Amino acid sequence: MSKSRGSDSNDSSRLSQTSVNFMQRCYLDNAATSWPKPEGVLAAMDRYHRELGIAAGRGATRAASEVDATIARCRQRAARLFNAESSDRIVFTFNGTDSLNVAIHGCLQPGDHVIASTLEHNSVLRPLSELRRCFGIETTFIEPEANGRVEPAKFGDALRPNTKLIALLHASNVTGVVQPIDDVGTIARQAGTLMLVDAAQTAGHLPIDVRNSPIDMLACPGHKGLLGPLGTGLLYLRPGIEQQVASFRQGGTGSLSEDDRQPDRLPDKYESGNHNVPGLFGLEAALDWLEQHGITARLAHEVELRCRLIDALADSTFVRLFAANLSDEFAVGVVSFVVNGFDPQEMAAILDHDFQIQTRAGLHCAPGAHRNLGTLATGGTIRVSFGPMTTVGDVDRLVDALRQF
Ligand SMILES: Cc1ncc(COP(=O)(O)O)c(C=O)c1O
Repeated sequence: MSKSRGSDSNDSSRLSQTSVNFMQRCYLDNAATSWPKPEGVLAAMDRYHRELGIAAGRGATRAASEVDATIARCRQRAARLFNAESSDRIVFTFNGTDSLNVAIHGCLQPGDHVIASTLEHNSVLRPLSELRRCFGIETTFIEPEANGRVEPAKFGDALRPNTKLIALLHASNVTGVVQPIDDVGTIARQAGTLMLVDAAQTAGHLPIDVRNSPIDMLACPGHKGLLGPLGTGLLYLRPGIEQQVASFRQGGTGSLSEDDRQPDRLPDKYESGNHNVPGLFGLEAALDWLEQHGITARLAHEVELRCRLIDALADSTFVRLFAANLSDEFAVGVVSFVVNGFDPQEMAAILDHDFQIQTRAGLHCAPGAHRNLGTLATGGTIRVSFGPMTTVGDVDRLVDALRQF
């Protein structure tokens, strides 16, 4: 296949196709949002829309009771998944970004100092940048080492008397490299600093035990590794932490309505306005699926797919892999690469149009991670990311496609 093929992908007649059969696609973008969702997720959302269709926490009808019971069950399942102290420690949000904003805006005040890694997603970098510009909070960013992992001692070295928060992503959404959150969290705890973990790429993929880890706040979407629908997210807060985290938005909670102040109790303090009830019906079914299938086997499957892809491309002269030499225990099922001679966006478009393989090209909202890889100025990378439904055949289909260039 010649490289001129790239220009074909700009052919407007092909881009304007309206009847693509997406069921034949090879979906490798689970780090953006997982697909397909378990059947139970679709059934639960369908049933909610067709039969219930009522808001949560606002009524005394039987339909309202069922909605409230499902949401309570969803919270309990999430609490079990992360070994949280109780289900009221789980706050529902609308995505990972929302969870991170509730945590970051809620705990920081003018004069505070924050330490984060340069690998963070814009959902951490941009709130910090906003708070720096508007309220003068101070920030220190720690670069990863050559292996893509941060050195915990560097967080200790960066501590200041006014350090209020350490924010660290659990795994990079660009390379899949898992970060030493327990070691960094221990440093935070010894210093009396809050530890916020962005588990967007690990929740549902890796076991997380908040009760036995030095984590004060854990933020994640419901629609990625947890396999729930878009529009769902979670924030865990360790008992007592809510006293240091103001409510980011205020409004109706269906509780203490006579009081003009936001309730102090959890989860109401951080859950104003109507819930995404259909989303939570789907998330509840997704968490049920996760409980039944377990995380250990899933992790092994996704890491095996990562290894299969890397092994198949390791000797290639046309593909350059990033973070490929990582030991399995430090990786989730995310792989970044570039194809020599092709802009990542162009190659992703070819993979989609010619092979029905869906990847994600660009900077993945993580400019620091790309600066670190040297891909910031060259359009980033192509990222592929696996889920529990990804098969060995999907990986082989990608490898076969790439071998044609
Ligand atoms: C590491 C990381 N943090 C945060 C987010 C934001 O999550 P959401 O897309 O649910 O807002 C993402 C999404 O890709 C991510 O990869």
